[in-house]
Amino acid sequence: MLAKEIRERYLRFFEKKGHKIVASDLLVPENDPTLLFTGAGMNQFKEQFMGKNVTFKRATSSQKCLRTGDLENVGRTPRHHTFFEMLGNFSFGDYFKREAINWAWEFMTVEMKFPKERLWISVYKDDEEAYSIWKDEIKVDPKRIVKLGPDSNFWPADAPSKGPNGPCGPCSEIFFDWGPGTGCGKPDCSPACDCSRFIEVWNLVFTEFERKPDGQLVPLPAKNIDTGMGLERIVSVVQNVPTNFDTDLFTPLTDAIKKVLDAKGVSVPKSHINLIADHIRAVTFCITDGVSPSNEKRGYVVRKLIRRAYMKSKQKEAFLFNLVPVVVGLLKDIYPELEGKREHVAAIVKDEEDKFNETLRAAMPVMEEMLSGGKKKLNGDQVFKLVDTYGMPLDVISDEAETRGVTIDVDTYEKLMEKRKDESRKGSNITSDFIFKPDAFAKAPKPELSGDMPLLCDVVFMLKNGAPADAISEGENGEIITSPQSSVIYTEGGGQVGDAGHIEADGVSAVFVNVCNAGGKRVFQTHVKKGTLRIGAKVKISIDEKRKERTACNHTATHLLQSALRQVLGDQVKQSGSYVDDRRLRFDFTQLKKLTDRELLAVEELANGWIEKNMPVKKETKSLEEAKTEGALSFFGEKYGEIVRMVTIPGASKELCGGTHVDNTGVIKFVKIISESSVASGIRRIEAVTGENVIAWLKETSVGFDKELKQMSSVAGGTASLFKSVPGLDKAAATVDKVLKNEAHVDKALLKEFDETVRP
Ligand code: ALA
Repeated sequence: MLAKEIRERYLRFFEKKGHKIVASDLLVPENDPTLLFTGAGMNQFKEQFMGKNVTFKRATSSQKCLRTGDLENVGRTPRHHTFFEMLGNFSFGDYFKREAINWAWEFMTVEMKFPKERLWISVYKDDEEAYSIWKDEIKVDPKRIVKLGPDSNFWPADAPSKGPNGPCGPCSEIFFDWGPGTGCGKPDCSPACDCSRFIEVWNLVFTEFERKPDGQLVPLPAKNIDTGMGLERIVSVVQNVPTNFDTDLFTPLTDAIKKVLDAKGVSVPKSHINLIADHIRAVTFCITDGVSPSNEKRGYVVRKLIRRAYMKSKQKEAFLFNLVPVVVGLLKDIYPELEGKREHVAAIVKDEEDKFNETLRAAMPVMEEMLSGGKKKLNGDQVFKLVDTYGMPLDVISDEAETRGVTIDVDTYEKLMEKRKDESRKGSNITSDFIFKPDAFAKAPKPELSGDMPLLCDVVFMLKNGAPADAISEGENGEIITSPQSSVIYTEGGGQVGDAGHIEADGVSAVFVNVCNAGGKRVFQTHVKKGTLRIGAKVKISIDEKRKERTACNHTATHLLQSALRQVLGDQVKQSGSYVDDRRLRFDFTQLKKLTDRELLAVEELANGWIEKNMPVKKETKSLEEAKTEGALSFFGEKYGEIVRMVTIPGASKELCGGTHVDNTGVIKFVKIISESSVASGIRRIEAVTGENVIAWLKETSVGFDKELKQMSSVAGGTASLFKSVPGLDKAAATVDKVLKNEAHVDKALLKEFDETVRP
């Protein structure tokens, strides 16, 4: 049975049991900064497990997951992966243990026809209920049921003692027994043994608790089910092959890798081929979901995966990018988003490989030199030099060292690196007064809502220096929550800064510079200018409307620029990030090559054409389905709810967006692109200003421009004298003089003469 059929059977099985088939969430969880990547099917349902937003009670999915914890084992072992697919069925306050266990058993033994005696069960040591369902109702021989502790039979593992906070519960796992001839061979071998005889194929989690920040397990409003079956594993069992890499999920890819390497006369071990296959799948999915290689968190994982795969392939030129279409071909039916991004992903991978190759070209000879004469150790200074001067990543140095049996002094290297970071921190002037930590507001009361503006309200909670406080004194900063709070106030989100404004109380005058969202509570980042602002104070809040309008101009201009970029460069341009405040806007988009001046000008002219036409900006809410049919652009790598807000500028732009916009493009007056740069491989950034900010920008730059002009004219003056001193160039000298005196402004004949005489 092929992987595709197994995946399909699983989803249909649970659909028949009343589950809604839900599309995989993105690999990058939205609104969940606690997660680097989506690592389990339940991630997208965290809210539902807490009893919020439950619109359907049963769901099933095949979720794209990425875990980096096992990176070192990938390729070396039969079943470790970074990217994998997790099949799952979920209940949000609906069915619980009994149905979850019964259906899992039915799927395994009736639908998939696994022999019952090859299946073993583990339950949490204190979970008598699950134990008796397996033993008395399902009639599994108690010899094949083991009771285990919280490290293996609680999810997340060890949650009661170690966290993380959030939904959790005891679990029960189903194992497949490869038979007594495999693994350690001990007569009492069981799923408790970590030899390879028993393979865990399905984890049923009985999610009934919420772990609170103080470590307490509190029962959730309702009991839930969260299950996870690793597709790659179950396929390897069904197809009866020794490793996940021998299943049809991988063989076309591993064959393609072998073919390319063979053609180049390179031979690498099977473990390297497996690693390359794993990593290129992960990289393809990450870039498709909007994570490009970079030096920051998620982007760095992608960069690292590309580099590791590249090193293991022993290539001297880019080659991984050739594998992207193979991954897309294998999985596009299930994850249709892959297809439209194929060329984009391949181009980014190639670009990254090329850059890495350059680094290696410079660094490898230095490393060779360091190890010349058969030396078997790199000291801390040498490692530091390779990293700091030659840009060789530490993990690549360690991998390379390990392959050659060389040790490296990481401790000294880390001390040197820390010292370097300290120095650069001291050299930076950037300080941030407000560091917003949403968790710090968990204990704040939930405020009432009001539509009033200006708003009369009470200060109900405050933080100073990140800790709860009673008062913020004159000259100090703090973060406050009021009740009621107004729905008119915009909180930072969707790449747009929050509102700013004034807070007045008896004897107190304060400003807020931004508003953030802490789990639905609006948090005002406040600076007290006069008096002392206390908890319980009655305050009047008003918004800086001018700032709000300037921000709206920038936000609408961002939409116009996106449309203009797509018209000028092509539809491959997709938003990959943006930031809008009242001074300027920043727009990041997928594009490999630097924009030429001509392209930038064309983009600017198109956008300004739409501004000049005084076009209306329509904002409507509608179903996601409808908005997509109408061709609304969505943010690259974002997942939307069923009801969305669509912002339309007829004939120019249509985007899903929750931000603040002007009512008519004419309000923007003018947009000026002030910079164009690269932010990550395949991602370019433009920055622009609008309206009054254009004038401010012009003034600022013209000071510099004047200076440059003066310098230029003194150089030109020098040139004129030089020409005068050269016999035969007197005519040219006279021309330069005229140009300098501004007489040659539009005189084409003179310019021609200038050209002919100066460049004969
Ligand atoms: N969330 C559970 C797991 O990842 C099913 O194992």
